[in-house]
Amino acid sequence: MSAEPLLRGRGLHYRYLDRYVALDDVSFEVHPGEFLALLGANGSGKSTLLKMLDGLVFPTSGSLSAFGESITEQALSDPAANARFRSRVGLVFQNSEAQLFSATVREDLAFGCRQLGLDAVQTDQRIGQIAEMLQIEPLLDRAPVHLSGGQQRRVALGSVLVMSPQVLLFDEPTAGLDPRTSAWLLALMGDLHAAGRTMVVATHDLDLTMRLATRCIVLDERHRVAATGTPTEVLSDTELLAEANLIATL
Ligand SMILES: Nc1ncnc2c1ncn2[C@@H]1O[C@H](COP(=O)(O)OP(=O)(O)O)[C@@H](O)[C@H]1O
Ligand SMILES: [Mg+2]
Repeated sequence: MSAEPLLRGRGLHYRYLDRYVALDDVSFEVHPGEFLALLGANGSGKSTLLKMLDGLVFPTSGSLSAFGESITEQALSDPAANARFRSRVGLVFQNSEAQLFSATVREDLAFGCRQLGLDAVQTDQRIGQIAEMLQIEPLLDRAPVHLSGGQQRRVALGSVLVMSPQVLLFDEPTAGLDPRTSAWLLALMGDLHAAGRTMVVATHDLDLTMRLATRCIVLDERHRVAATGTPTEVLSDTELLAEANLIATL
């Protein structure tokens, strides 16, 4: 692989409340331009790892770096370092409702623009572009809480895309979406990747993985990395998939 990795985890451990293990000695690298599928059964630690990559939780032990800088609670307590990091990495939550907190869709999109320091004219322009791309123009003055799940997913994605981060993290993006919205989102993720974004996507969706991923990391139920490889390598290993509880064996 070329160049320095954008993200690098070394021996990452995480426990909730000091006792519930979520990650156990997880090491990985994410290189520029990759589309990495993070595969694993429920409870294997995918969401925890994405939150860690987004600087929302910090490893109990081990080290994480992004763009050559060490990501620690202390490092991100510096406002300039925090703003720099937040403009380069964005996480689309599994639960879109948890990502939306403003009275209107427009306000939710404007929030990220303010974080970037855009002025009112630039903010309007950016919101217009993103709303068009996500087909949410008619929703801009609506309250996010009153939208459908699929609409909320688009708005949550918009709230991340307005900041134009180089690395996009998605937590089970197709879970709970109807087939048309799911197909639309897959196409959009493919376009974002083709346009140069680095993608890390936690999913059980083996179809998404086969169609879009350039590489996979499999977390097992002991919260460890069970395998890494190309989608073809990983998805053809039925023993591995059964062991990691990604397919059921009868
Ligand atoms: N807030 C929490 N408090 C205690 N344990 C948690 C919490 N969130 C997750 N866990 C535990 O951490 C482990 C990993 O969870 P998670 O990262 O959500 O996995 P996944 O996204 O793969 O389903 C699971 O065993 C889960 O029960
Ligand atoms: Mg999860």
